[in-house]
Amino acid sequence: MTQYILALDQGTTSSRAIVFDRAGAVVARAQKEFTQHFPQPGWVEHDAAEIWSTQSGVMQEALSSAGLRAADLAAIGITNQRETVVVWNRLSGQPIGRAIVWQDRRTAGLCDELRAAGKADLIKQKTGLELDAYFSGTKVRWLLDHVPGARAQAEAGELCFGTVDSWLVYKLTGGLHVTDASNASRTLLYDIHAGGWDDGLLTLLDVPRSMLPEVRSSSEVYGQTSKGLLGAQVPIGGIAGDQQAATFGQACLDVGMAKNTYGTGCFMLLNTGAQAVDSAHRLLTTVAWQLAGQRTYALEGGVFVAGAVVQWLRDGLGLIRHSSEVEALATSVPDSGGVVLVPAFVGLGAPYWDPYARGTVVGLTRGTTGAHIARAALESVAFQSAELLEAMQQDTARGGTQVHELRVDGGGAGNDAMMQFQADILGVPVVRPKITETTALGAAYLAGLAVGFWQDQDELKALWQVDRRFEPGMGRDEAQGRLQTWKRAVERSRDWAKP
Ligand code: G3P
Repeated sequence: MTQYILALDQGTTSSRAIVFDRAGAVVARAQKEFTQHFPQPGWVEHDAAEIWSTQSGVMQEALSSAGLRAADLAAIGITNQRETVVVWNRLSGQPIGRAIVWQDRRTAGLCDELRAAGKADLIKQKTGLELDAYFSGTKVRWLLDHVPGARAQAEAGELCFGTVDSWLVYKLTGGLHVTDASNASRTLLYDIHAGGWDDGLLTLLDVPRSMLPEVRSSSEVYGQTSKGLLGAQVPIGGIAGDQQAATFGQACLDVGMAKNTYGTGCFMLLNTGAQAVDSAHRLLTTVAWQLAGQRTYALEGGVFVAGAVVQWLRDGLGLIRHSSEVEALATSVPDSGGVVLVPAFVGLGAPYWDPYARGTVVGLTRGTTGAHIARAALESVAFQSAELLEAMQQDTARGGTQVHELRVDGGGAGNDAMMQFQADILGVPVVRPKITETTALGAAYLAGLAVGFWQDQDELKALWQVDRRFEPGMGRDEAQGRLQTWKRAVERSRDWAKP
């Protein structure tokens, strides 16, 4: 009897597999980290073969740990680190080089050239994205321009480009080349309004159309796993980028619902329904998911350094030995003692998009201790998130949408002190669900809907349960004052590394 859905969650630092039952509860899980390659400053690469070997390994491990077989699975859902680019040979399945990861900045110069040529507005109009090295398009072009023979092979139709979801589907099925609209919307090559690859953008970035995957819905049966891979064939029924999948897994299925995932970075998405809202604050307009041909859109803001600031306290400053100690250290003082830390270690994302900003600490006095710095580090995550929500509120206010609460997930959402401060600064309740594996859960939901494992979105909404609700406790004047002080500190971090 097919009682379970398997979700594959291919993230930036690890490959994970989680099995869910019909109640959305976790039945089994396995996780494996894989190698990060940093061949030059600002470059980040992954070995696509290792992505596949770790992903297929944890898939087998999760099943066997729960004594499950392929025949127990109704479907597989896939969710993935977004924007990362894999290019491989269509026939041999061999990648032409390492995958270029979303964090990689090597194409910043190409983006500057395109901006100088006046292309940023056109790109924003069509794709909803900023012209930034973060996205896939300039990375594909880099590979075609730098790997010997690649461009000729691409033009001869011999190469496939895909984000990581495409790569996994190709490997799972033995040759299918597809993606979903949520992943396509992160490439700089996809018109989010028309719902297709855009010839003008392909020409601008010099990417042959023949290498692109077919764009499909986020929930449908794309194909079956190859015979022999799992013992029985299993339908692949869902694909979505990890932040969009988390939004789905949080059951933010109605307009005005928002989630924030506190991981290495922090990504906030607000469901804007059938309307692609154009941001006046440099937020991204992106496809949340496409179901039965209908696209749902989201406004998105990303904080590049969130949980990573805790790693820095641990590994860079040695203030704590384990990340879990940060809450106790930060709450050992009543406040940050006037210290503000702006963790712009890799520049700033929305709403600033400043690749040249760098980390800054202001307000140090003779009385400052490590505890104050730790507290300021946690507060920085809340301040950055508050700026995103503020921008979203302003962008959507014209349409009458109000965000009434922020659903939270990811590792950082387990930090009660930070979540309380987040609610205080936002002035909006912060709500943590019982199941915080929302990224994988969202992929499972998408796959389960495709095969009738779950019937409809109402059933999914009913599965979502509150673990804890954090009500804002700080006066609005104080919260606004704190936010203004934060913004003054951000101004001091801007442009620091500009050549
Ligand atoms: O846009 C990048 C994002 O998809 C990465 O997510 O969780 O793999 O760091 P994560």
